[in-house]
Amino acid sequence: MVTVWTVRVLTLFPEMFPGPLGVSLAGKALENGVWALETVDIRGFARDKHRSVDDTPFGGGPGMVMRPDVLEAALVAAAGDPESPERGRVLYLSPRGRVLDRELVRELAAEPRVTLLCGRYEGVDERVIEAQRLEEVSLGDFVLSGGEPAALVLIDACVRLLPGVMGNAETAGEESFERGLLEYPHYTRPALWTDGRGQTRAVPEVLLSGHHEKVDAWRLAEAERITRARRPDLWSRYAEAHQAEWDRLAARRSRRRRNGKVDGGTGDTVRSGDKSEGQVS
Ligand SMILES: C[S@@+](CC[C@H](N)C(=O)[O-])C[C@H]1O[C@@H](n2cnc3c(N)ncnc32)[C@H](O)[C@@H]1O
Repeated sequence: MVTVWTVRVLTLFPEMFPGPLGVSLAGKALENGVWALETVDIRGFARDKHRSVDDTPFGGGPGMVMRPDVLEAALVAAAGDPESPERGRVLYLSPRGRVLDRELVRELAAEPRVTLLCGRYEGVDERVIEAQRLEEVSLGDFVLSGGEPAALVLIDACVRLLPGVMGNAETAGEESFERGLLEYPHYTRPALWTDGRGQTRAVPEVLLSGHHEKVDAWRLAEAERITRARRPDLWSRYAEAHQAEWDRLAARRSRRRRNGKVDGGTGDTVRSGDKSEGQVS
């Protein structure tokens, strides 16, 4: 039996799904049964005649809080008991959570099923987070008006990793973060482009050379340059992982220089991470 990656979304706004995930690659994959989406309307689990899902916060303060009894009923119906081995990972989208990154996306895409609880108002009663052992996951240090946009982002990031979703599997391996680097710049036709203010901009020569090794070396150097300039956090991890390799290359070059040989055409690419260029302390 083929297991289809299944995501269940508990929300007060089921009409928001699949939304943007119903088009393009994710939409086609959904249509072709590569992944499955189930939405659960939290309001269907309300117990009173007003179908209320929220109430005022104990201790006072602004806004409303989503009720634990309603959420528990919805979560158990959707994913099963927290003790059940079939339950899979159950996440609450929350600004307090672990920030979504490539590692977490990979983990979630490798699960057979994932359940996402979308909060609204001021959020959910703390006790349901504990009782239902919800993993809190954040999109970043900002506040959204609801968990639904965060759920859409998380699902999109997972779906594009599923086998058969991306047209060109090679593309995934080159993308930002795959090598611990941001991606190199892209260019397409025309090779010479005059922008709206009359300035003519050329594509870097090397990309027109047809020389694959040089193109690869240029792209790596650009990815390193951009990462170093924009993301010191990523850069220091990358530099740490590559320092020994750079030291080896630098030592080999200085040996060659001492022996009177000139660098170039030896396969020793001059890397932006080399100590001689002063980036790595
Ligand atoms: C208005 S927010 C609640 C914010 C909360 N009172 C706070 O200050 O942390 C309503 C819901 O949006 C979702 N949300 C808001 N920001 C988010 C973020 N950065 N990442 C993931 N979900 C978020 C959560 O599900 C949250 O329960």
